[in-house]
Amino acid sequence: MTPNGVAPSILAADFARLGDQVAAVLGAGATTIHVDVMDGHFVPNLTLGLPVVEALHAATDLPLDCHLMIHDPDRWAVGYAEVGVHNVTVHVEAAADPVALAKNLRAAGALAGLSIKPDTPLEPHVETLRHYDTLLVMSVEPGFGGQSFIPAVLDKVRAARRLVDTGHLQLLLEIDGGINADTIVAAAEAGVDCFVAGSAVYGADDPARAVAALRDRVRAATPNRWGP
Ligand code: DX5
Ligand code: ZN
Repeated sequence: MTPNGVAPSILAADFARLGDQVAAVLGAGATTIHVDVMDGHFVPNLTLGLPVVEALHAATDLPLDCHLMIHDPDRWAVGYAEVGVHNVTVHVEAAADPVALAKNLRAAGALAGLSIKPDTPLEPHVETLRHYDTLLVMSVEPGFGGQSFIPAVLDKVRAARRLVDTGHLQLLLEIDGGINADTIVAAAEAGVDCFVAGSAVYGADDPARAVAALRDRVRAATPNRWGP
């Protein structure tokens, strides 16, 4: 499973010094680094691809969590697993055969993640999720950082949490978009395990302190779900 906790998204980092920006959150409680790959087709924005991910992987000991906002992940996602990405997440709206894709990702050594956009319902994909390790619930429309959190998606988080807690699914629950010191509390209470935060971390004067503060908010909100 992708480690629990806060996953800084480098989408909001300074791309000219990515290695330093990742190092800045090491030791502050960041458990994974979230890397947003956008292709300018599945989403209107364009970010980075495999060569940059490979370089980042070589530059840090933190596991990478790659969120692929791309068309045709059936063709491209396995390449990210092959370069050592810990968790590779694809969008259910883009995948032609998400079950086969999950198997291929796992066979290549990665955890398989499935993401759903804010308007995509959970229920039709529950059986598919049996093949996945992570569910990434988007709490903004994918494509850009700095958007406002959509609270209605927490209903899907709660539903997924129930499926996990009752043993129907084995998934780590991740949320992405608009997470900050205020919204993270409701997300934690709904049952999220891993909280992606871009602007709340890299838009802060001290990214490490921002990660620690977010982690502390989660632990205060849901003390029973975290160790001492
Ligand atoms: C948006 C990306 C997010 C983004 C979140 O499509 O998937 O990971 O970095 O940024 P914030 O935390 O600023 O909403
Ligand atoms: Zn993301």
